[in-house]
Amino acid sequence: MSIQHNKSLKEFNTFGIDAKAKNFIAITNISELMVALQLEEFSTYFILGGGSNMLLTQDIEIPVLHINNKGKRVVLSTENEVIVEIQAGENWHEFVLWCIENDFGGVENLSLIPGNVGTSPIQNIGAYGVELKDTFVSCATINIETQEQKVFKLEDCNFGYRNSIFKNEVKGNYIITSVVFKLTRKHHKLNTSYGAIQQELESNQITNPTIKNVSDAVIAIRERKLPNPKEIGNSGSFFKNPVISKEDFDILQNKHENVPHYVVSDTEIKVPAGWLIEQCGFKGKRFGDAGVHKNQALVLVNYDNATGAEILALAKKIQETVLDKFNIAIEAEVNVIS
Ligand code: FAD
Ligand code: EPU
Repeated sequence: MSIQHNKSLKEFNTFGIDAKAKNFIAITNISELMVALQLEEFSTYFILGGGSNMLLTQDIEIPVLHINNKGKRVVLSTENEVIVEIQAGENWHEFVLWCIENDFGGVENLSLIPGNVGTSPIQNIGAYGVELKDTFVSCATINIETQEQKVFKLEDCNFGYRNSIFKNEVKGNYIITSVVFKLTRKHHKLNTSYGAIQQELESNQITNPTIKNVSDAVIAIRERKLPNPKEIGNSGSFFKNPVISKEDFDILQNKHENVPHYVVSDTEIKVPAGWLIEQCGFKGKRFGDAGVHKNQALVLVNYDNATGAEILALAKKIQETVLDKFNIAIEAEVNVIS
């Protein structure tokens, strides 16, 4: 294990922000992690996965632990199901492709989401009608303060929309080191309920889709809509879609007949933040090197050399404008590091 000093994090965050890590430690196995956590000169740590859900607004003074432990293994295989254990530093999309190759079903709708497997439980990643919680069994963690190992099972995690125990009660206390999933080997339960997936399958004349067909459809949709961080810096959806009361939604719909929405329950409605932001005139707008993506107003972008502070200022301006116009508060989904 070695410590690198004053290392640029530009290549380690998908926004491409050029913040520096005073001390940067690459972690490739649990023993290295234990050693790093026992270094006497440090007491707090910054945990870095794939850097695809963070906005760095300044240099990181505390040691950065770059979680990069690798490994995928089948723990148990029955006729219909398989249990797999994936190390935290594995790339999420590569894990999905491995599942498709092996004909393990359940994560195909989550194709092409950037980041690491170990981070996936933190915000219960989701896309196209499927969330991590649908296949999650448990995750192994290490307590940063005590270095004790602890397993969080599905029922411990309080998963919700872009939410979990790791963003609330135990925020910042644990490092996730591996995740266990339960996947199907036969009788895959395909979820093609999302309109865009159906349209994509129909346009390719696929009537009896396989998990690979669904994965390919999701990849095609995402490539059309979302900017590739290798080409233009971004962190995916910058904000969560707000969930508002049925009463507030009725008022909104009276004024804006065509407001898109998803019914969450009898009393709650989710409104796409991308629509709210577009209605405020931000879509495709550029402010210096910070901007709002032209195809998806929920995605803030770094055209070249924007600082984290510039992107954050734009995010605040958007939040204020949406609040003024619609009386709806939109909350950041991205972890703002300040
Ligand atoms: P990082 O950005 O490295 O870290 C995120 C947070 O988790 C930080 O606070 C970090 O300290 C902490 N952390 C990281 N690793 C660990 C660990 N092992 N243990 C404890 N804490 C840790 N998300 C979705 O849900 N659905 C989408 O469809 C989606 N699409 C996206 C599209 C694009 C183009 C981009 C850039 C992002 C998208 N995201 C999406 C967001 C992002 O991919 C996910 O949130 C992903 O899980 C982040 O993983 P990461 O490893 O990059 O996290
Ligand atoms: N819309 C607009 N203008 C826009 C963007 C969206 O009007 O510029 C409206 C449209 O009506 C569209 C609707 O919003 O039909 C929904 O848009 P989209 O299907 O692109 O999904 P989203 O709600 O904007 C969410 C997730 C994405 C996930 C997709 C697909 C959140 C915060 N975002 O986006 O996740 O990939 O659904 O399931 O829930 C991420 O978290 O980083 C992310 C990309």
